[in-house]
Amino acid sequence: MDFATDIHSHILFGIDDGARDLEESIGMLKAAKKAGLETIVATPHFRSSRFPADIAQNHLAKVREQAEPLGITILMGYEVHVNALADIGIENANQYCTENSHNLLLEFSYNTPPPHEERLISMMQRQGIQVIIAHPERYQVVQKDLARAKYWVDMGCELQLDALCLLQGRFSKERKCAEKLLQNDLIHHVASDAHSIADYEDYLKALEKFPRSSK
Ligand SMILES: [Fe+2]
Repeated sequence: MDFATDIHSHILFGIDDGARDLEESIGMLKAAKKAGLETIVATPHFRSSRFPADIAQNHLAKVREQAEPLGITILMGYEVHVNALADIGIENANQYCTENSHNLLLEFSYNTPPPHEERLISMMQRQGIQVIIAHPERYQVVQKDLARAKYWVDMGCELQLDALCLLQGRFSKERKCAEKLLQNDLIHHVASDAHSIADYEDYLKALEKFPRSSK
C-alpha cells in the first residue's frame, strides 16, 4: 500500500463540508506533511451536476500554491456519489477521474444497498475506468456480510479504507468491518477522508495501527 499518497481528502476549501477557508486548507497541508504525505488527491463531494467547477479550479490553484513549498503534490479528483452518475450521464464519468489517471472514487449511500451497482460499474469499466469504492466499511451491506466487498473486488474494483475508523471504539461496526476487510486482504488503498486539521492529526495516529512492514 502507498502510504505517501492520500487518494481521498476534502482539503479544497469552500466547496463541501471539508476545509472552510484557505487557512484551514493550509493547516491540513501542514498536518498531512507530518503524516508523511507527498501526494494528496483533492476529492470534493460530487453529488450532482450543480458542482461548482469554476470555484473548485480557483481554490485548487490556491491550495497548490501553498502545497508546493511543502513538497506536496495536489491532484484534482472527486468523490462521486453513485446517484450523481445518472445526473451527469454515465458516458461522461471519465471526466470525474482523478487527474492523470483512470481512477474514479465512487461513493454509495451508507444505509441502502447500492442500486444496480454492477451495471454501472461494468459500464464504467468498459470505458477504461478503474473504479475505487470509497470506505466500504461504512456500508451496512458490507458490515453485515463481507461477501459484497469480495464481489466488488472480483468485479475488478479497488477498495479504499478510511484509516480514521481504526481509532473508533472496539464495538464500532465500522472499525470491526475495517479490520475484517484488512484481514481478508480486500483493501487496496488507505486514505484519510480528512475534512479538517484534526482529521490529519488523527490520520497520523491511525497509520500507527499498520505494521511497519506494510509501510
Ligand atoms: Fe469523503
